[in-house]
Amino acid sequence: MIKFAPSLLSADFKKLEEEIKCVDGAGAQYLHLDIMDGHFVPNISYGPAVVKDIRPVSGMVFDVHLMISEPEKYIEEFVKAGADIITVHVETVKDKRGILQMIRDFGVKSSISVKPKTPVSEIEDVLDLCDMVLVMTVEPGFGGQSLMEDCLPKITELAKIRQEKGYSYEIEIDGGVKLSNLDKVLDAGAEVIVAGSACFDRKDTRAAADAFIKAFAKFS
Ligand code: DX5
Ligand code: ZN
Repeated sequence: MIKFAPSLLSADFKKLEEEIKCVDGAGAQYLHLDIMDGHFVPNISYGPAVVKDIRPVSGMVFDVHLMISEPEKYIEEFVKAGADIITVHVETVKDKRGILQMIRDFGVKSSISVKPKTPVSEIEDVLDLCDMVLVMTVEPGFGGQSLMEDCLPKITELAKIRQEKGYSYEIEIDGGVKLSNLDKVLDAGAEVIVAGSACFDRKDTRAAADAFIKAFAKFS
């Protein structure tokens, strides 16, 4: 089953609760929460205090994407704030196995991400410890960029490794996904679909989310 993970980064922050209820009502399973520190990526978003405040608004799976340096220092805080899945970037971690195990030890799902230029080989040795793998299809930092199609083969590669090794991680795609390129994304094998600007479009969030959910149904 294809899962939808709207990225709150593009939402209208003066009406966050309403925005979240729109995507929840449409049937989105995950809420994708982009945490940026102005160091690992050249942008600053929001932190655990916001995650904590919005936690009671919805029962959706809180899918926390940490685009921060030294993520190991902040795992516990995001767990306490209500994260269900925590993704760290392989480019930021010194001890890959250690941090994935730490996330699991806190009772939440573990995930690792690769930037567009980072090959799957950089994470192959820790895929046994991953509940999800996030493939970036834009340079992390900003919503509204164009999907880099040359990253899509990484999704197919991850699906192949999973089958060969008997692993069970979900494969998430993040960056530039729109209704117009959804067929390519799903053909590649992506299972958790992040969409920021294409979902929180500042016109009609509910209609945009409904359109994604309808498109998934057509595919499966
Ligand atoms: C980018 C973030 C994305 C972003 C996606 O660094 O990780 O989650 O919000 O936004 P769109 O879908 O507009 O590319
Ligand atoms: Zn993200």
